[in-house]
Amino acid sequence: MAQTPGQPIQPAQPQRGPGLPVPWEPVLSAAVGRPNSRDIDDYISRGGYDALKKALETMTPQDVTKVVADSKLVGRGGAGFPTGVKWGGTARNPAPRYLVVNADESEPGTFGNRYAIDADPHMLLDGMIICCYAVDIQQGHIYIRGENLHGFEVLEAAITQAYQKGILGPSVMGKEGFGVDIYVTRGAGAYICGEETALMESLEGRRAQPRIRPPFPIEVGGGLFGRPTVVNNVETLMNVPHIVERGAEWFAGIGNPACPGPKLYTISGSVNKPGMYELPMGVSLRDLIYKYAGGMQRDQKVKAVSPGALACQILPGDNLDIPMDTATLTRPPYFIPPFGPVGFGAGGIVVYGEEVDMVQIITNIAGFFARESCGKCVPCREGTHWMLDMLRRIASGAGRPKDLEVLRDVATNIAGRKTLCALGDFAVNPVGSGLRLFWDEFEAHVTKSSPARLLEPAAAG
Ligand SMILES: Cc1cc2nc3c(=O)[nH]c(=O)nc-3n(C[C@H](O)[C@H](O)[C@H](O)COP(=O)(O)O)c2cc1C
Repeated sequence: MAQTPGQPIQPAQPQRGPGLPVPWEPVLSAAVGRPNSRDIDDYISRGGYDALKKALETMTPQDVTKVVADSKLVGRGGAGFPTGVKWGGTARNPAPRYLVVNADESEPGTFGNRYAIDADPHMLLDGMIICCYAVDIQQGHIYIRGENLHGFEVLEAAITQAYQKGILGPSVMGKEGFGVDIYVTRGAGAYICGEETALMESLEGRRAQPRIRPPFPIEVGGGLFGRPTVVNNVETLMNVPHIVERGAEWFAGIGNPACPGPKLYTISGSVNKPGMYELPMGVSLRDLIYKYAGGMQRDQKVKAVSPGALACQILPGDNLDIPMDTATLTRPPYFIPPFGPVGFGAGGIVVYGEEVDMVQIITNIAGFFARESCGKCVPCREGTHWMLDMLRRIASGAGRPKDLEVLRDVATNIAGRKTLCALGDFAVNPVGSGLRLFWDEFEAHVTKSSPARLLEPAAAG
């Protein structure tokens, strides 16, 4: 998935959905692979900006928020918060207000935003301007992962085109009294920049570290420049034009009724065809792997799965019929104390085959979170490095029997939101669940001289 800055991404073709319960047609990724799909004229020729026109000409801002709320769209960035509720809450707080689009997408295993921006940047602008109309916002900011220079350039070009057509600027599509400006900012190259309050700190020119809540971003004092702010993920906003155009009922009828709609799944790991697949929210793990991602490499059995990239609890590979969606994976029986919800994150599914050494995988994941902890909260700053030290020792064959209990103890002590943001919980999710599921494998590393070779070069000792 390496991307050379300036080179267009060649996304995997999303699959259509044979055998799906509804006549299924991708909407978010429909333009993937289409020549000139980023061009505004191509977007308009596909019905683009019709939803914005419909909203401006036939709906009040409250109507727009209502249709989004009725659609039951929940945020695609990870927390799964109802989008209509967020918009309505922001609109109730005093102006000026801001819209911030979270395009940071820095977690290994997640790349749907990147593909979507590359294929169809105007769909994002369309959703953003509709949000601005609904919440009475005049200024939107897109914060895009710093390394994604290509995506930044794609967005800048799209914004320029939208100004030229009068879709952005002092009077959107000629609508008297409704003007919107949109700016893009490149991120500061850290995973924490995707956490919404750290993101706003970074946008304001400070070091990206989470803020204390309350006040929440939608409130005075909590959002961008201290003003009430809607923070939404790229994919969340790309759903909005389709909801306005086709109605709440259409959207609510797709996939799991508890968190409906189309979803840009990204799947990687031990599968034959890693890539992005747009499918109804709630598709089974089995279908994702075997119907879409080409099955397992070398026909291995599925040993385990990270359902929401690295930050979620690891699931065993023995139940492939589990629906992959926000609602299922955050409620019992997938709410597993003391670590809480398994989690679905942004839907970046990483599959581990039986050839994989889970101790090495978990050590590697722990390395990511230890490096990316911003250092503001003690349990996360200290705990992630303690976990990594012990895991490296265990994985290299130098572990002591008591290390496993100590590791479990450290993980349990970080868990449960003892930190300002969820990064601390993210860090313990794979470790805690990994110990629960693969205790024997951990023990084998401790009791036998292990041939394990670490994935990280700096891991020796
Ligand atoms: C450490 C950390 C990293 C995050 N990274 C992202 C990210 O890259 N993109 C994103 O949309 N949300 C990310 N989130 C979640 C955001 O804080 C926020 O919930 C989300 O942007 C809200 O948008 P939504 O309601 O449309 O999902 C992250 C959260 C944490 C704790």
